[in-house]
Amino acid sequence: MATAIKSSSAFTDDKDLNLAFPTEFIPAEVRAVLPEDLHIRPLSSTDYHRGHIQVLSVLSHAPDPGYNAWLSHFNALKLTASTPAPSGGLLRPTPTRANTGQGLKSNQVYFPIVIVSKANDQVVGTGTVFMEKKFLRGLGTVGHIEDIAVDKSQQGKKLGLRIIQVLTGISEGLGAYKTILNCSDHNIPFYEKCGFVKKENEMAKYA
Ligand code: ACO
Repeated sequence: MATAIKSSSAFTDDKDLNLAFPTEFIPAEVRAVLPEDLHIRPLSSTDYHRGHIQVLSVLSHAPDPGYNAWLSHFNALKLTASTPAPSGGLLRPTPTRANTGQGLKSNQVYFPIVIVSKANDQVVGTGTVFMEKKFLRGLGTVGHIEDIAVDKSQQGKKLGLRIIQVLTGISEGLGAYKTILNCSDHNIPFYEKCGFVKKENEMAKYA
């Protein structure tokens, strides 16, 4: 069972966390416009205890897997970053334009992020972008945005917009020629405000 969300806990600094990817990937310009009482960072190995699954449940059915299974999943996502590319690609980012999210290189596939309340160290928003390497478009890369969720009590404060700005910043910083996502008709106006345009259709086959 999930640990109950604590009403107040001391805020945990990034340096004291096991993060899914280096913080340098979070564009500084988005951090700068976030309200002072909130912090945006990569998902950490202990965010299960900060209500990560509960926040996701505003989006869809998100049954509690228990901490051990959640942590194994976190480690599996992170492992994709530490598998050396055949070409010997970089395992750590090389910031060439400090803190802009641009010019960073990584073999990481998944970039899950969270917004945390500094008041109680709880997750109030989350989202992920994963990077697809293609053979077409000159071996191009596409970023796929998934699982955007903002806690009901925090919606309407531009946190969804900030999450999308960070994820597209990471995607474009890694050279993606496009960043795409699926959403309901209801959310189209939100994504249009984030700079996205409607293209084509989604097909799905459920098992
Ligand atoms: N319809 C019309 N406009 C909207 C909507 C909507 N459904 N949602 C947000 N907006 C507008 C806001 O009014 C704001 O406009 P403004 O700049 O003119 O003031 C702008 O979009 C930015 O809105 P935010 O405040 O950043 O939105 P919020 O923080 O509430 O996040 C989100 C939006 C993520 C959709 C949130 O409401 C949520 O978590 N909903 C439930 C889960 C969900 O549907 N997630 C998206 C699934 S799609 C996917 O994951 C790829």
